[in-house]
Amino acid sequence: MTTEMIFKDAHIVLPTEVIKGHVHVKDGMIADISEGTPPATLDKLAYDLEGDFLLPGFVELHTDHVEGHYAPRPKVRWHPMAAVLAHDAQIASSGITTVFDALRVGLDSDADLQYTDMKALADAFHRGVDEGTLRADHFLHLRCEVSADDCITAFHQFDPYPLVKLISVMDHAPGQRQFAKIEAYAVYYKGKLKMTDEEFDIFCKRRIAASERNSDRHRQMIADLCKERGLILASHDDATVEHVEEAIRQDIHVAEFPTTMEAAKASHNAGLAVLMGAPNVVRGGSHSGNIAAGDLLDEGVLDILSSDYIPMSLVQAAFLLADGEKAIELPAAVRMISDTPARATGLDDRGAIEIGKRADLVHVKKSRNTPVIRQVWRQGNRIV
Ligand SMILES: [Fe+2]
Repeated sequence: MTTEMIFKDAHIVLPTEVIKGHVHVKDGMIADISEGTPPATLDKLAYDLEGDFLLPGFVELHTDHVEGHYAPRPKVRWHPMAAVLAHDAQIASSGITTVFDALRVGLDSDADLQYTDMKALADAFHRGVDEGTLRADHFLHLRCEVSADDCITAFHQFDPYPLVKLISVMDHAPGQRQFAKIEAYAVYYKGKLKMTDEEFDIFCKRRIAASERNSDRHRQMIADLCKERGLILASHDDATVEHVEEAIRQDIHVAEFPTTMEAAKASHNAGLAVLMGAPNVVRGGSHSGNIAAGDLLDEGVLDILSSDYIPMSLVQAAFLLADGEKAIELPAAVRMISDTPARATGLDDRGAIEIGKRADLVHVKKSRNTPVIRQVWRQGNRIV
């Protein structure tokens, strides 16, 4: 039996324009998009948006938001499935219909979360997907800290997990990339790990030695594994043209959080999709003192926004960009949270309101300046 639905009286955000009209969904796919009112024969199938916005479901590539539900306090661990369900509910109610949940690989000995924790979460995501209990479509993103001694063995611990589709390589040693300035590193880590000056010195020396020992070879090994397995690879915190050249050689598709204009331009011009944090757009700058997403937008080299640690920041950032002084229209802002991340990860069946794509749809009402998410559908099924 065919299931059908009409979304009527909507400002439909298409890839390059906004039209007033209706969308016809059949069996979870977009079957037709037309201006004006639907024929009276279809009216009984209609959901009335009363002039509000209809957006494509958002595609989120980099979020560690589940960690806050799983480890709500230091040393406290919540039931992994309950944590995943709570995270999934917030993801879906933020308009995200496809999400790559980030799990860390290659851990510093000071890290609070360990592999047993990461594997417990990976198991819970798989169980949720297998049992059909999750609202959004979930994949896993392994964030590989290449400076860590155990990076490669840890990577292989995730071999049995079919949801792994995206890998990123990062080096968070002091003096590298995100923390090219040691002052920013001191603020971040001394605050996070509550270290004295002396402890911080020892910590830095140990991290730098590990980076020198491991980073280059681990980065290459991960790139080779991704090529072999057809996984999408992302770079992280690239700061120089040399970093970008290495990324191109390693067949990297996405440049996550470049820290300088130089690296962002070189990445974008080489065809990598440049990803920045939506919280950076909403807050007007980076929490670690690196380049602002708004500056990349001004230069035309910003491609993807990621919610990072605040799921609701995607819709906030898209409307903020379209409403602000930046010369960007709503369709272009929405592409950064839907179409472009979908294409960058090979998900060509979604990410845009287009005939033949999955009916992943978001009803957004503007309340004063705040976009409010009213309802969300994944493949035509209401999930929020
Ligand atoms: Fe980073």
